[in-house]
Amino acid sequence: MIRVPVAVGGGRDYEVLVGSGARHRLVEVLPHGIGRAAIVTQPGIDVGVDTGVEHETFLMPTGESAKRLETVEDLCRGFARFGLTRADVVVAVGGGVVTDTAGFAAAVWHRGVPVVHVATTLLAQVDAAIGGKTGVNLPEGKNLVGAFWQPAAVLCDTEVLATLPPREYRSGCGEMAKYAFLGVDRLRDLPLDEAVAACVACKAAIVAGDERESPASVGGRAILNYGHTLAHALETVGSYDLRHGEAVGIGLVFAAELAARLGRIDDARVAEHRATVVAYDLPVSLPPRIDTGQVVAAMGRDKKATGGGLTFVLDGPRGVEVVRGVARADVEAALGAVAS
Ligand code: GLY
Repeated sequence: MIRVPVAVGGGRDYEVLVGSGARHRLVEVLPHGIGRAAIVTQPGIDVGVDTGVEHETFLMPTGESAKRLETVEDLCRGFARFGLTRADVVVAVGGGVVTDTAGFAAAVWHRGVPVVHVATTLLAQVDAAIGGKTGVNLPEGKNLVGAFWQPAAVLCDTEVLATLPPREYRSGCGEMAKYAFLGVDRLRDLPLDEAVAACVACKAAIVAGDERESPASVGGRAILNYGHTLAHALETVGSYDLRHGEAVGIGLVFAAELAARLGRIDDARVAEHRATVVAYDLPVSLPPRIDTGQVVAAMGRDKKATGGGLTFVLDGPRGVEVVRGVARADVEAALGAVAS
């Protein structure tokens, strides 16, 4: 089992356990002295966990649309009926939709109860379950309501990844591809456990340096959104048949094309982005007939954009960083370079 520390300070440091069978370590990572457990999961997630204490299971709906405020209300009303207290724990068992939503419910129930994530998808293991971002979507955009609420521990059981549908697995690869440009070397050569742990360690270091994504920072937590500005816009405006990681794959290539237009990287580095995304079997082009105006408007509403204008996370001579005030003409040209 690989143990990756996440040093967020304030007595909230925790470990991420990565490896085959990690889900069986739940009892040893639960906070000491907890009384009962509320397990939050979804129908179809066939990953049993043993909490070692009295527990009740709360099922939330499936799909990205389940990540909404009504689900948080339903969960909290369930916690009320169960009598969950601050001496108890929420255990989220699932992918990013479950860890984001259950994590947010844990953050607001009784103004905060401990949560442990048992991440069952590649995407949750390398990104969503790590670092304490929790939240839900609004019709106006993804993750607009949420809280920073660090888990007490995260279990990344690589054994359960073998049961993922291929497209779901590939979606996680979109997040892995991102880490290849955030300093994780030779990621594709590593065995799966080590690759997941390397991504977790990369994210842990970034989160430790800027837990709350300071808006003033150019090289802080916001760089974890590399490839995500376009990806979130595509997920918000269109009913395109795109998984999150697929949208991130296109977003990475778009970001490289934009960085090249701005003179930040050369053609060889753009080609490296394309090759990495292709190697993970992810798309590098936009879906057909996208409404460019809508997509650019959605990118303008991105949470990174603090002072108006278009803000992106872009590669460059100092590595990946936040770049503000990008001209619309350059954005449109870069969109043209990834048109289908
Ligand atoms: N998924 C980006 C972050 O956790 O900051």
